[in-house]
Amino acid sequence: MIIWAIETSCDETGSAVVIDGRVRSNVVASQVALHSEYGGVVPELATREHLRNLMPVAREALRQAGIGPGVVDAVAATRGPGLPQALMIGFKAAQAMAFALERPLVGIHHHEAHLYSAWIDGENGRARFDDFVPNVTLVVSGGHTLLVHVPAVLGHRLLGSTLDDAAGECFDKVGKMLGLPYPGGPILDQLAEKGDPGAYDFPRPLRDDPGDDFSFSGLKTAVRYFLARHPDVAEDEAGLRDVCASVRAAVVEVLAVKSVRAAERLGAECLAAAGGVTCSRGLRRELADRCARAGLELRLADPAYCTDNAGMIGVLAELKLKAGCRPAAEEEDVRPGWALPEVSGSEGAPA
Ligand code: KG4
Ligand code: ZN
Repeated sequence: MIIWAIETSCDETGSAVVIDGRVRSNVVASQVALHSEYGGVVPELATREHLRNLMPVAREALRQAGIGPGVVDAVAATRGPGLPQALMIGFKAAQAMAFALERPLVGIHHHEAHLYSAWIDGENGRARFDDFVPNVTLVVSGGHTLLVHVPAVLGHRLLGSTLDDAAGECFDKVGKMLGLPYPGGPILDQLAEKGDPGAYDFPRPLRDDPGDDFSFSGLKTAVRYFLARHPDVAEDEAGLRDVCASVRAAVVEVLAVKSVRAAERLGAECLAAAGGVTCSRGLRRELADRCARAGLELRLADPAYCTDNAGMIGVLAELKLKAGCRPAAEEEDVRPGWALPEVSGSEGAPA
């Protein structure tokens, strides 16, 4: 089966071709440089960039996969959640492509695609669902922090999510307070590598709460007050590194402790993690340490499939079509506030 996929939920314009469970091309035009000037994503600018980039990116995905549009079996696109106008650009283009090619359109839930991206091999693009292990998956990015029980492929149940800021948002906002360029997450992670994580004791919100929800806005505020009280602390490189390491230690400890606890409680053999923040070296190490101690297998999404990309959209679309899900109707629209649908294994999730 040949899937042509499109992702435009936020600030990355992505298109990919997935053929028989393997990502053959995965093209992403990032808008990071554009938005960094404003310290965050500006929806109007994102929309204009998607409009400008989508067709070249989609064409390039076909070219890299060595196919023409005529052989495509289905078109897939992110239907939600995300920025309304940004979603509209990709979803409506995909609808038009599907209409012109007389092929089905599969509308994909962005978080659900992140959820299964940990099973895509970063080297060869193969989706390894034959290796699937019942798991708890942490989906952690700039817009979302979710803990999901996945006892079977296409059989998942949301356990908890953030009550306020996402973990990546916390990194990005702390980065802004420290004067780092947007998005702060990757730079904070890099600076933290050479800092002392024990230098400052920031709160670990909800770490010891038995529930599966997260909260990061209190930590962000604690850092703001700390910096107001100690304006000189991050002035030199060493101080900046220590603040970054201490903030990162607080965030990754909460994420890892709660994820491992949920996996143990549910008797899952494996913990998986995906989404942009899973690029963090600190988080990858913390999860590896805690999983090893708990005797849990760890499945981390490859960095190429962590941040927003259309490869994961195409992989999930193929899974769903093969499971017999109903393609989207032609008149369907985007769903910017779409909550993660709960799915039980065999039904394969109607789109
Ligand atoms: O999945 P993604 O590309 O977009 C959303 O769906 O939100 O994730 C972007 C987020 C940003 O908050 C960014 O700062 C964070 O992922 N991020 C990182 C790293 N790389 C990206 N956070 C910490 N360490 C990193 N290396
Ligand atoms: Zn995302």
